[in-house]
Amino acid sequence: MLWTEKYRPTSLSEVVGNGKQKKDIENWVSKWKEGIPQKPLLLVGPAGIGKTTLAHLIASNFSEFVELNASDKRSYDIIMNTVGESATTRSFFGDDYKLIILDEVDGIHGNDDRGGARAIGQIIAKSQHPLIMIANDFYSKRIATIKTKAEVIKMQKVHTNSINAFLKRIAKSEEIQADPVAIKDLAKQSNGDLRSAINTFQAVADGNETFGSEDLEKVSKKDDRSTIFDSVRTVLKSKTPSKVKKAMFIEEDPTLVMEYIAENIPREYEKKNEIKKAYENISKSDIYFGRARRTRNYGYWKYASDFMSIGVSLSKKDTYKKFTKLTSPTSFSIMGKTRGKRNLRDKIAEKISEKMHVSNSVAISMFPYFEIMFENDEEAYDIADFLELDDDEIKRFRKKKIPKKVIKAKEAEKIKNREDKKKIEIEKGIFIKPRQEVKIAEPVKEKVEVIEEEKVDEKPKKSDGDNAQKSLFNF
Ligand SMILES: Nc1ncnc2c1ncn2[C@@H]1O[C@H](COP(=O)(O)OP(=O)(O)OP(=O)(O)O)[C@@H](O)[C@H]1O
Ligand SMILES: [Mg+2]
Repeated sequence: MLWTEKYRPTSLSEVVGNGKQKKDIENWVSKWKEGIPQKPLLLVGPAGIGKTTLAHLIASNFSEFVELNASDKRSYDIIMNTVGESATTRSFFGDDYKLIILDEVDGIHGNDDRGGARAIGQIIAKSQHPLIMIANDFYSKRIATIKTKAEVIKMQKVHTNSINAFLKRIAKSEEIQADPVAIKDLAKQSNGDLRSAINTFQAVADGNETFGSEDLEKVSKKDDRSTIFDSVRTVLKSKTPSKVKKAMFIEEDPTLVMEYIAENIPREYEKKNEIKKAYENISKSDIYFGRARRTRNYGYWKYASDFMSIGVSLSKKDTYKKFTKLTSPTSFSIMGKTRGKRNLRDKIAEKISEKMHVSNSVAISMFPYFEIMFENDEEAYDIADFLELDDDEIKRFRKKKIPKKVIKAKEAEKIKNREDKKKIEIEKGIFIKPRQEVKIAEPVKEKVEVIEEEKVDEKPKKSDGDNAQKSLFNF
């Protein structure tokens, strides 16, 4: 079971943070219960802080509730059908208020006559039922009018200390011996997003007896798996193009993100035609990635990205009200298992950043270019040799192995180059010692002897024969 579900607050008091805001919401509810209609509420704030949770908790105060996604045009028909006449007229007897929850109102399309802002405007104007609207982006133009007609409750990020305490409580209940420093670090990293803190904690600690900094390292900055999952979840859960688009701004290899989305489509979507549509979008995205690679025109990336994000997100008719555990693409997890804690991507990125003096994230962003360069056998060999990539790492950029013939020819060429260089150096009387120290040599004859001596000397000293070889040939 997902911990965000297991530890979901069952009462307002269990919702951490936003004390003042909770009070305002409670007042709003009591007014309705006294029979005094109130302006609609607009809860605005960042992701994972308990907005939807709060709306659900409040719902128990009313006879019924409908929860809809504002960006789904059909929502307005549903409101009219389910709340029906009673959206505008209400019986005078009994406590029969129906709560309407409209989530993601910053995703509505303002200029769409059928749905959108206008419909919300009508509901606000006519409905005699309590209405709660939820949005992430306070400054979104799409909610500008709504803001003037609603009581705006600005919700804040959850404080690090509160996240810290919440995680400790989970650790205790799950009987995990957690290192307080690691818990604190996780709390800080989650940047006020309690949901992502809980999800990350579960991803690394579920089923374990302990939790320490090493575990956290697996998912923190170096490994963006938590971020990638957040993006995938948004694509699958949301129907709001702006939100989905934003979720694509992650420091990740976009083709990997595509793989993650593809892997998880059938876990979230249940209807055959939706799954089919979603995969059609993935396939279009794949085509554009390929086109970008072939033509080296990276303008195509934008299309690829739109298909795999907005395309997939809009392949579903309605959002699913369920919790889905997302998984890594199968190929990726197998790779993860065999390669231990640090994944392949990071290893390659580190090699690139070391050799080319760029940051790890720049290195990752260069992967697509490497894919192109690796298409050519010779070029692939040269780059792999320069970066000292091993076979698994080469596989990241090209499926086929570099042909033995090419390797042999290249190695022969290398040896020849070295020998030619050596010859020239000897002829010129310049001798470059292994560690790149340049020294002007005395007579040529003696010089040759020095090389011979060093060769003999250095080999037994080094435990790794390969290294000795390398340093000798390093000129
Ligand atoms: N303030 C909180 N107190 C306790 N649990 C929380 C809180 N905020 C989030 N959670 C946990 O995270 C889960 C998701 O929270 P919720 O869906 O309410 O976030 P949200 O603010 O609506 O996010 P989004 O803007 O992405 O829709 C909850 O089920 C709960 O487990
Ligand atoms: Mg929500």
